[in-house]
Order: sequence, then C-alpha cells, then structure tokens
Amino acid sequence: MSGRIPESLLEDILSRVDIVEIISGYIPLKKAGRNFKANCPFHHEKTPSFTVSPERQIYHCFGCGESGNAFRFLMRHERMEFPEAVEILAKKAGITLPEQDKPEIARAVSLSTQIYRVNELAVNFYENNLAASGATAWRDYLLNRGIKLQTIKEFHLGLATSGWDGLINYLRSKGISISLMEKAGLILPKDSGGYYDRFRNRIIFPIFDVRSRVIGFGARVMDKTLPKYINSPETPVYIKGKNLFGLNLSKDYIRDNDFVVIVEGYLDFMIPYQEGLNNVVASQGTALTLEQIRLLKRYTHNVVMIYDGDTAGEVATLRSLDMLIEEGIQVKIVPLSKGLDPDVLVRREGIDVLKAKIKDAKNLFDYKLEILKSRHNIKEAHGKSKIASEMLSTINKFDNAILRGEYVKRLSEEIKISEHYIIEELNKLKPSSMEPRNETVRPGKISTGINPAEKLLIKFMLEERDLIEKIMQELSPADFSDMRTAKIVSVMHDLFTQGKNIEPSILMNYLSEDDVSQLVCESMFMPELAGQDREKAVNDCIARIKVQRLKSQREHLHIQIKSAQSLGDEQKLNSLIKEFHNLIKKGD
Ligand code: CTP
Ligand code: MN
Repeated sequence: MSGRIPESLLEDILSRVDIVEIISGYIPLKKAGRNFKANCPFHHEKTPSFTVSPERQIYHCFGCGESGNAFRFLMRHERMEFPEAVEILAKKAGITLPEQDKPEIARAVSLSTQIYRVNELAVNFYENNLAASGATAWRDYLLNRGIKLQTIKEFHLGLATSGWDGLINYLRSKGISISLMEKAGLILPKDSGGYYDRFRNRIIFPIFDVRSRVIGFGARVMDKTLPKYINSPETPVYIKGKNLFGLNLSKDYIRDNDFVVIVEGYLDFMIPYQEGLNNVVASQGTALTLEQIRLLKRYTHNVVMIYDGDTAGEVATLRSLDMLIEEGIQVKIVPLSKGLDPDVLVRREGIDVLKAKIKDAKNLFDYKLEILKSRHNIKEAHGKSKIASEMLSTINKFDNAILRGEYVKRLSEEIKISEHYIIEELNKLKPSSMEPRNETVRPGKISTGINPAEKLLIKFMLEERDLIEKIMQELSPADFSDMRTAKIVSVMHDLFTQGKNIEPSILMNYLSEDDVSQLVCESMFMPELAGQDREKAVNDCIARIKVQRLKSQREHLHIQIKSAQSLGDEQKLNSLIKEFHNLIKKGD
C-alpha cells in the first residue's frame, strides 16, 4: 500500500492522529467497553458489528470483514487513493510534508492506480462517443435491445468508433503515456511499428470491481461479426477469475435477499437488473472460480444459477458446480430452454416470469439426477453405475454427514440399489479427495480459510513483542499454511529484528495487499485470553501449527509417492518412502 512513502513518515502521522476522532467525523460511534461501535458503513446491517479500537488504532467489521487503520478507512470510505489519504492525515496531524517527500508521494502512485485512472479516462471517451450525434445507430441498437437511456448511463456504456487511434489520441492529449495505455490493455502494437486501439466498432461495457473502480472492458459488435465480444486482456488490475460483473451494483441487494442469481452475459445482468431483479451477478460466460465463489460468500451462501439450454446439459459444467457445494454454498438451478437467456426471457415474458422460475429453482441434486437420467438408462446396470458415480462425486462434496446420508438414501431409491453398495462406492472416493477439506469459509464466518491457531499466534505476537522471539525459535514463517499469515509473520519478524515498532496499525503500512493487512485486524479482534490461559494458548497454537505442517508434508509426500508409483520410478519411490517413514517418526 505504501509505495515509496517512507514508513517512518506514515508511522509519525498515525501516532499523532486518533482513529476514533477520524471515523466519528463520518459516522456516529458509540462507546462499548474498550471499543466503539457503529453500524458498518461498508455493508447493510441493522445491529452494529463495526468496531473501532482506540488502543490499537484499527477498525474491524465482524459482519463483512472490512478492517484497517486510519489510512485505509479514508481510502475505503472516501474512495481516496493512498497518497491522498496520507496528505489529508498529515495535515490533520500538523505535519508539513517535507518538499522532497511530495514528489515521493506523487511517484508512490502505484501502477494499479495509474491504470484505474486511464480506464476512467477511457470510459469518459467511450461514453462521449456514444452520446455524440453520429452515434444514433448505436444508441438505437441498445434501445431496441430494451436498454433504457438511464441504464446506459448507470452502467456507463460507451462506444468505440471505427477509427484506429481515436482513443490513443484522446489519452495522449490527457498526458497518458503509450506504455501505460498498453499496460491497461487498451492498445495493441502494430507489426509495422506504432500502436492501434484494441476496441473498434463496438459497444463498450466497462467492467467494475466491487469498489466500483474500472478494471477492464467488454466490447460487443452490433452485427454478426465474430467474435461477438472481445474483452480486455488480464492486467495488474483485471484478473478475470477474480471478478464478477455487476457485483458493485448488486452487492447490497444480494446481502439483503440472502441469495444471488448468477447469469452468464452482460445483457443477462443488465436487463433483469433494470427491470427490478437486482441481486444478480454475471460470470461473463466462464465457469466460476474458487475466488469468485469466495467473493460472493461475503454477501450470501445461497446461489441460484441460470443456465441457457446449451450449457446446462453439460455434465462437466455440473461437475464444476460441485465446487460450490464444497464451499458450503447452497446451489439451485434454473434451466432455460435452448437459445433462451435471461435477457431474452425478460424481454419476451417479463421480469415476473423470471422471478417465478427463480423461486421454483431445483436443487443441484435433483437437477443433475434428471439430466443423468435422460442420458443413461436407469433400468440397466451400466446406466445405474454411470449415474451413481456422477451423483456420488457431488454427494462426496458435502461436508455435512447428515446431508451425505440423506442424498445417499435418495440415490438408492432412484437407482434401486441398496444403500450399502452406494456407501461402499462413496468410501472409495474418499481417499482421492486427499486435499484437506476446506475449513475456510463455513457459513457465517468471514473470509478466512486460515487455521485459527495461526491468527491467534499473530495476535499474541502483536500484543507481546517478546513472544516473537520465542515463537520464531519454534516455527518459521513457512510453517504457516496460508500465504497471507506467512507474509505477516515474516514482516513482523523482520521489523522485530530491526527493533522497529510493530503495532498493528503500523505493521499494516508494510503489507501491500489489502487482504493481508485486513487479516492483521481480524487477528487482533480474536477473543481475549489472559494469564495462564494465555501461555497455554500460545503453546497450543504452536503445537497445532506443527501438527498441521507435518500433515501437509505427509500429504505432499503421499502424492509424490503415488506419482512415482504410477511412473514405475523405483529409485525415487524408495527414497520417498524413506522420507515418509522419517516424517511419521517425527510426528510421534
Ligand atoms: N463472452 C465473451 N466473449 C465471447 C462470447 C461471450 O466474453 N466471444 C462472454 C460475455 O460476457 C457474454 C457472455 O460470455 O455476455 C455470454 O455469451 P453469449 O451467451 O454468447 O452472449 P450474450 O451475453 O447472450 O450476448 P448477446 O445477448 O449480446 O448476444
Ligand atoms: Mn443474450
């Protein structure tokens, strides 16, 4: 987060301002014990779970997980960039930034920030194109597709005209370098030298992240030219599998309704959204990734997928839905007939028809079974076995034994095979899912897939400097199973050895990624322990992390052994097995 602004300056600023005073300038805070509470300004809630700690100078919301120090609050609440937040708080603290630090601050603007700005400019350019008098045909196209003028504005739709360098010239006139335009994915190099606009002759759909920053673009032709859509390439701010189209607009609706409707396309989002179905996101036509699922889990654990007829039948697609179950999400499905998508359905039959279909959505089990039954002969042994094996891969994903039992029973009734045999097959599947079951995100908890022992240790170390040394004698950062906790511990240890301040609000200045510094706050707000309990807890945590390390080493070896076995690599196998035995001895 800090770029090149010296950490000592940040520390100086933070030590002279009070986070309680700053936050209460924006929202009313109420004293609650040692902390202050409020309704969270970052998500909708009726009972306050937003907490500010005057001692630690950090805030944390137990509802949505948002947390940070004073800089972070300004960035989030006022949508400021980091250097701006620094300038404001410096002023408040009565610190005049030394002249030589000002250019530092300007330079500290990260590449990501620069890309957001260029994208923002590009949005303006494209929007103006669409509003121009020559663009009637394009506006008519959108209006004919049922998109209202107000919706065009709300989504900042735009137009890339047919020229080769319209955007280049515009951005150049704003002082943007070619290299930055290229990094933002807006232009492409010509074989003959020079550059040209990536998007031409297309309607532009800006893609926003949850914080409503423009991260990329989708662009559609108006005729039958192929490809129908082209999209921004991946850039430092646009990582496709990490984002969901529309979530910035729909997130509060998703939380309020406690379910999300997932559609495929831009228009499948916009038309229902415009007509009053607001708890939607669009996957942009690709299979959901784990990161997208986790993003959604901040808002709900209930998903309704709407598939158009073509994709729905794919068993592979269905299998990818098993991932949702594994993440503790309740999945339902609305199948649409071939060629129909939510956009077309709503325009033909109205939003209420779509809403009714969502209400009637089938659970994944029933839906998958129905499809499998249409493909395989359920009366015949091979058919039964095919159906069972596909269904079992889903059933196996349920963490909850009761649910597994229930579905085994239903499968047994469907294929008319005794439960006993089905369970036998299910048990065969178990070892293959050697990956540790994801403890991460149980319903009701915030972000963290992380072993609580790791978070507790971080809290202890932050509260009691001397513990760092003790703990670092027993564990190394790499023993922490999550990259984020490992990063925190390693930075903390470095600061400790340099004799530097490691208060949580200060430590965060050294952690560049949001989710890492959020984790610092989350750890700090773990339940308190005192006296003897505390020492015992520290030792317990260390022991638990060691056990976890051994377990993952074993699992890793196990996989290597299996692969050596299947490759018939005797020599490797022997040395691996030896290693495995050593490990097991260590564990005893
Ligand atoms: N998509 C894409 N690139 C393509 C085709 C599709 O990125 N070449 C993504 C887009 O996000 C698109 C979604 O996949 O919205 C679904 O694709 P498709 O069903 O083909 O298009 P629609 O969204 O139905 O588009 P339209 O209604 O405008 O034809
Ligand atoms: Mn469509």
